[in-house]
Amino acid sequence: MLFTSKLPDVGTTIFTVMSRRALEEGALNIGQGFPDYPIDPRLAEYVAEAIDAGHNQYAPMEGVVELRTRIAAKLHGSYGVTFDPLAEITITCGGTEAIFAAIQAVVGAGDEAIVFDPSYDVYDPAVRLAGGRAIRIPLQPPHFRYDWDEIKRAITPRTRLLIINNPHNPTCTIASRADLDALAAMVREQPITILADEVYEHVVFDGRQHASVLAHEELRQRSFVVFSFGKTLHATGWRTGYCVAPASLTRELRKVHQFNTFSIVAPLQHAIARFVAACPESWLGLSAFFAAKRDLFSGLVRGSGFAPVPAAGTYFQLVDYAALSEKTDVEFADELIRDAKIATIPLSPFYAEPPRMSLLRVCLAKRDETLCTAAERLRQFSARRLER
Ligand SMILES: Cc1ncc(COP(=O)(O)O)c(C=O)c1O
Repeated sequence: MLFTSKLPDVGTTIFTVMSRRALEEGALNIGQGFPDYPIDPRLAEYVAEAIDAGHNQYAPMEGVVELRTRIAAKLHGSYGVTFDPLAEITITCGGTEAIFAAIQAVVGAGDEAIVFDPSYDVYDPAVRLAGGRAIRIPLQPPHFRYDWDEIKRAITPRTRLLIINNPHNPTCTIASRADLDALAAMVREQPITILADEVYEHVVFDGRQHASVLAHEELRQRSFVVFSFGKTLHATGWRTGYCVAPASLTRELRKVHQFNTFSIVAPLQHAIARFVAACPESWLGLSAFFAAKRDLFSGLVRGSGFAPVPAAGTYFQLVDYAALSEKTDVEFADELIRDAKIATIPLSPFYAEPPRMSLLRVCLAKRDETLCTAAERLRQFSARRLER
């Protein structure tokens, strides 16, 4: 049959490639971003009870009201802002669906969307499926800072959307309030909507504060802000997230959501609503939980040829292998799978035009034993390499 692919250059993601290679080589996979420890048992209980209570039919398209009300209270606690759960909060199939729907809602044929590289892999294809073009601005290692003068030069009369991910995966950096002020000044008087991907909102280290777009009065009025219970509740397979946006933007987002997933798994929404009401400590403790894992892993690899890069947020950690090899990150990641039996994620596939880099991403959402085993294998690989 004759047909034309809409995404001819899109293949399997780097996550799938590395996970497949890990399986083939019997390697420990500390690359892909999912926990290897159990969820809070209360969550499992609440789901079973929600099913028993009969919450098994279509949930409302916008999301279960009880959950949206709990989210509004949670957002008020986090950012001191009051949102209307009925008009401004929508439950989605993970953060991914919220991102996809927001892009389809505001990007049209010929429009441009500014995306910062290294970028989460959904952004660019979603912009293209909407008929638009992603203008990819590389953040440069080692600091991956926003250069607002350069970004301003990328704005054209066709720019309709700017996507910012904060805290940032995979660089583990966070944007500051000054970054948000610069962004607000840049888009003022321009027909540009902001899509803020804040799925790691609760993982910021060393006493830093997450600078949410929701806490920025000017930006909030033109933004979709995306969150994920997959990240917050250590349950990536639950595929439950949400989007917060002013009523006018929310109406447009729901037009896409309604004909895509329509509504999200009902018993999970009821269970999460109960859990959010009962267990606020679960997300208030996330930064400390992951900071301990960051410190454990970094402490174990420090002094080997893998240098941990200071991480300000997210549940990832970058390691710099420059002392060990001059190979590209993709080649070196494959060598590690074969020779160290450790799978990581190289950074260059997250760029349209990758700068020269020697950085690999490790996921910290693993049991301490897993992190210790991984660090030990990396140390041994390093020792063998440095002996040569
Ligand atoms: C930066 C970023 N945005 C969005 C998502 C998607 O979140 P979810 O799993 O809730 O769809 C992820 C997941 O890894 C992510 O890292």
